[in-house]
Amino acid sequence: MEKLLIGNHKMNLLTLAERDNYLSSLNAETQRISRQDLEIVVCPAFVHLEKFVQELSGANIRVGAQNSSAEVRGSFTGEVSASMLKALGVSHVIVGHSERRMLFGETSKDFNAKVRAVIAAGLNAVYCVGESRDQRGSGEMAAALERQLSEGLQEVAVSQLDRIIIAYEPIWAVGSDEIPRTDEVMEARILIRKILAKIYGLEKVSGVRILYGGSVKVATAKQLCVDPGMDGVLVGRESLIPREFLKIGEIISKNM
Ligand code: PGA
Repeated sequence: MEKLLIGNHKMNLLTLAERDNYLSSLNAETQRISRQDLEIVVCPAFVHLEKFVQELSGANIRVGAQNSSAEVRGSFTGEVSASMLKALGVSHVIVGHSERRMLFGETSKDFNAKVRAVIAAGLNAVYCVGESRDQRGSGEMAAALERQLSEGLQEVAVSQLDRIIIAYEPIWAVGSDEIPRTDEVMEARILIRKILAKIYGLEKVSGVRILYGGSVKVATAKQLCVDPGMDGVLVGRESLIPREFLKIGEIISKNM
């Protein structure tokens, strides 16, 4: 299976000049690397999505959104629906990022509605799960992951699992430079697969990709993705630097 490199820009690239610099740099750097066994998705802010789709389709880089509404259309001021994203040519939507949980008070129940809307629109959902430092310290990590997965995936059918990507992001590792050990990431991967198997049956979940996210850099990509057997990475800060971002892609797909 191809390794998946996803970049989450968050609220960055503030001007059109910054956006255009980023796109030309990403396009140029992409030519320099081997893309064998590597799928790339970049998730800029909403306002840049259309331009990104236009500029990156030639390079075979897909474009994702960082959020979307659970609603389809209507009086929901400020919201953007999954079908609007689909119409733009977007292929993925990040759902359940820990910043949405912590800063905007969204819950797994909210994320479930969003996941289902994303799938209904024919897009892929990158559903983020992960434990807080307290949950890890008090031995509640497994329960937290189980709750997030079972609530977030409620009423998602077995036949829709090919639209689901799980990103394991320990909350304490996001934006912090603190990272888990390889064996801890491996344990989380096995745990997530077990929880999915409990819901759907083991043979049904072997194709669901499980990514690692949280302080992934060139220096840590091997330890956080290759060694623990993850299917890819969700990269925040380093995805804003095309050269570093693609270097991470080369490491995880072993195209070095
Ligand atoms: P980071 O962010 O790579 O900057 O830690 C990861 C994320 O938020 O997905």
